[in-house]
Amino acid sequence: MSKLKILTYPDNVLRHPTRELETIDGDVQKMIDHMSATMYAAPGVGLAAIQVGWDRSVLIYDISPSDDGGSLQVLINPRIIDHEGEILSENEGCLSVPEFRADVTRYASILVEGVDREGRPLKLEAEGMLAIVLQHEIDHLKGKLFIDHISALKRQLYTRRMKKKLRSK
Ligand code: NI
Repeated sequence: MSKLKILTYPDNVLRHPTRELETIDGDVQKMIDHMSATMYAAPGVGLAAIQVGWDRSVLIYDISPSDDGGSLQVLINPRIIDHEGEILSENEGCLSVPEFRADVTRYASILVEGVDREGRPLKLEAEGMLAIVLQHEIDHLKGKLFIDHISALKRQLYTRRMKKKLRSK
């Protein structure tokens, strides 16, 4: 398994809506393994395919990572089919949005439909931390970043800071 490069804001690829995955073959399994190595090394609790430049509807997560990496979850073609309430996701961050964190309002609980890495249909009820991570990663698959949920002013300040940093490289 090799680590992949994680694209960072303002890379435009992160804005591409991803396409549904139709066939789960050996190449897909390999990509998922690479994504997994990349996420655990970062370290992060979730990673969407588009963050490594793969424009397919695939996300992985592990909200309780341990040394054995035994609880990796894979969700393919996920869709939020129901949601309830609101929760404040405090100090949310993203591997693709370096050096920035912000509070984001998310649904408190969600019902997600998709398939697992064996292609089996699955339905998932999530709340709390898991609901937040899934909404964050599903946003990525639509070309959306968590900074799209904050005020335009805060976003502009961050954009300006990153552009300045890119220029000074
Ligand atoms: Ni992210």
